[in-house]
Amino acid sequence: MQKSKKYIRVGNIPGEKSLHLLEERNKYVSKGVGNNTPIFVKRAHGALVEDVDGNMFLDFAGAIGSLNVGHTPESVVTAITEQAQAYIHPCFHVAMYEPYVQLAKVLVELTPGKMEKKAMLLNSGAEAVENAVKIARKYTGKHGIVSFSRGFHGRTLLAMSLTSKVKPYKYKMGPFAPAVYKAQYPYMIEKPESLTDEEYVEYCLHQFHQFFLTEVSPEEVAAVVMEPVQGEGGFIIPPKEFVQGVYEFCKKNDILFIADEIQTGFGRTGYLFASEHFEIEPDIMTLSKSLAAGFPISAVVARKEIMDAVTPGEAGGTYGGSPIGCAAALATIQKVIKDDLPMRAREIGKKIVMHFRHVQKNVNIIADVRGLGAMCAIEFRDPLTNQPLKEFVSTYTKACYEAGVIVLSAGIHSNVVRFLMPLVITDEELEEGLEVMTDVLKQLFHG
Ligand SMILES: Cc1ncc(COP(=O)(O)O)c(C=O)c1O
Repeated sequence: MQKSKKYIRVGNIPGEKSLHLLEERNKYVSKGVGNNTPIFVKRAHGALVEDVDGNMFLDFAGAIGSLNVGHTPESVVTAITEQAQAYIHPCFHVAMYEPYVQLAKVLVELTPGKMEKKAMLLNSGAEAVENAVKIARKYTGKHGIVSFSRGFHGRTLLAMSLTSKVKPYKYKMGPFAPAVYKAQYPYMIEKPESLTDEEYVEYCLHQFHQFFLTEVSPEEVAAVVMEPVQGEGGFIIPPKEFVQGVYEFCKKNDILFIADEIQTGFGRTGYLFASEHFEIEPDIMTLSKSLAAGFPISAVVARKEIMDAVTPGEAGGTYGGSPIGCAAALATIQKVIKDDLPMRAREIGKKIVMHFRHVQKNVNIIADVRGLGAMCAIEFRDPLTNQPLKEFVSTYTKACYEAGVIVLSAGIHSNVVRFLMPLVITDEELEEGLEVMTDVLKQLFHG
């Protein structure tokens, strides 16, 4: 059955060609590499994706937050093409090239804090996190690392050890890296009813201080690694006082504060970086995803004296900061700023939150609609038992892509629907996607 709107056009999903490729995929590609949809892409531009069967989708997943500037923006494609024609990879360790230095300079200038900083470039988010931890340990001479419940930092051994969702990320994958400790992260939807918001923040900070008495001493901790808004964990926005309290505690105890802005960066939350909402200047930041419009590159930015604690050969890698990645990132950042995408993120976020708060009035399994900028989410729970509705969200996201909107779940219970659409999405595209998602939701809810 063909369903058509102005932008969306979908028949059976997966279509015939995708089905064939799926067979090949299942035969030759690891099962462990999960897929959120069964489609194969033919081309994509802006917020639209066309699959090999000619189906057109609105992309509300944005390659898990990598596409704030959308698919294939012209300036980025041109920068990549021109760079590939000049040289592809002399390897920065062997023969240096200007785009690496330019990108380091831009990142140093744009990240919060006027202090002297330096950057290094890598390939993936997890690799940035690994390096941030190495640098923090070298600088402080301490080994302990504190991360948070529900946090996600990647799939390599150390990043996985910092991560806090067991299935599917850690199950039977241990033993994990030692000297990693998990503190509690506030979650307003789970606040005990007996506490006011202020009392809950106080309670969370008290727990955080207790943690350094019961779990590990501050003298042994090199760094606290925090996502200023948790991504995979369910788009959980912590109270500002909590983030500032943790930051102050770190300052007082010679612990470095590492902000993992891999999912929150480059305009998503309404500022260039989410740390700006909380008025903190992290000692170290990890960046990736929307840094380069989907090209694989990541960065660590740190205060100069911290970054320079590592000596030549202790950091880097063959492909870290590839010229094409640097060229893509420079063009991407220019677009984020020129098009004022942080401002656009606020507009998009306002529309999503208003829309689903209205829908929530008649759909009582929506327990929460929240957002910081365009980092928005809907959380589904049973209204009587408060149990997270994992199966419902799984059915819902599937029904959404079958109706032409690609959208992802999140949360340790996978009961959250999160929005990561390109920030270049037009109002018309956004409205069509929201309308389709709402129709699908009402159909599933009312049966
Ligand atoms: C906050 C955060 N840190 C780290 C990572 C890991 O990045 P990558 O998948 O590029 O290794 C992710 C990926 O989702 C992330 O959201």
